[in-house]
Amino acid sequence: MLSFPPRLNLAQTPTPMQRLARVSDELGVNIWMKRDDLTGCTLSGNKVRKLEFTLAEALSQGCDSIVTCGGLQSNHCRATALLGAQLGLKVVLVLRGETEEAADGNLLLDYLAGAEVRQYPVRQFTQSLPDLLEQAAESLRAEGRKPFVIPTGASDGIGIWGYIAATKELGADFSRERIVPSHIVMATGSGGTQAGLTLGAYLQGWKTQVIGMAVCDDEHYFQQKVRADMLDWQQRYESLMGGKAKAAEDCNILVNDRYIGPGYARADKAVFETIRWLARTEGVVLDPVYTGKAFHGLLEEVRAGRMADAKDIVFVHTGGVFGNFPQREEFGF
Ligand SMILES: Cc1ncc(COP(=O)(O)O)c(C=O)c1O
Repeated sequence: MLSFPPRLNLAQTPTPMQRLARVSDELGVNIWMKRDDLTGCTLSGNKVRKLEFTLAEALSQGCDSIVTCGGLQSNHCRATALLGAQLGLKVVLVLRGETEEAADGNLLLDYLAGAEVRQYPVRQFTQSLPDLLEQAAESLRAEGRKPFVIPTGASDGIGIWGYIAATKELGADFSRERIVPSHIVMATGSGGTQAGLTLGAYLQGWKTQVIGMAVCDDEHYFQQKVRADMLDWQQRYESLMGGKAKAAEDCNILVNDRYIGPGYARADKAVFETIRWLARTEGVVLDPVYTGKAFHGLLEEVRAGRMADAKDIVFVHTGGVFGNFPQREEFGF
């Protein structure tokens, strides 16, 4: 049994795990979907599970404001902006974006939630993110506030608790459905969800392969990033975890980088087709930045016979619906 660090109750859990009947029939393998797109309405997706731990840590340190970062359409930033409003914390978002994008999708929700948005061109953001975060934190300190800085996607040793804890919930799902999945598949964007699920599966003693479908960087990059988050977790929680903390060094990290396509937040036509197909076939809406790419990749892997021994595969739907709206033209609407 695991001991957990401080945690807030923010996500609507347990989320359902459903068998996608028509997709499964077509592929000849059971595809189950863990509906973490249903952790809330505007507070939906994987980030809410991570932020239960990250924001608990911020509050336990007596912080009254949050600085975090991401792309203009970051789901993590949107969830943080709304949770900040819910908890009475000021939120400053450091966002990466070239254009004066109209407030759409997640960005619109950031503004509605009252977050302060600081937007920087891609090159400046990429070259000087630590400085930009520190500047934002410094301006909060100058107002007499105590800021807490959350890294991209809340992917660090604290945030990964969200998906370590989620494996407890998945274990109950597997028992209820009487399945022993061969694979758990999800989108990997900053690595924390994969780190948590991989560690959690290892700590539960499952033989299940946990595969992250990369949406932006390659296998080598994510192998290192996911391991770094695990080692950060090990260092922070060794006293809480005892010998179990060694899991961070021992577990296997599996990344598939065949489906990145043109790059972060840009997807091939086939991904948009998959999003449209799944919405019509099962009533489930994916997104073009994360889950659409990852689910499309899973379909392609099964169709190509690369998951030949699989009987039950679990796809973790990590949310992201608002990312569809700024890309509406790609669907031809
Ligand atoms: C909808 C959605 N799915 C998946 C991911 C990837 O999760 P992680 O950043 O933990 O790799 C993200 C964020 O990056 C996301 O917003």
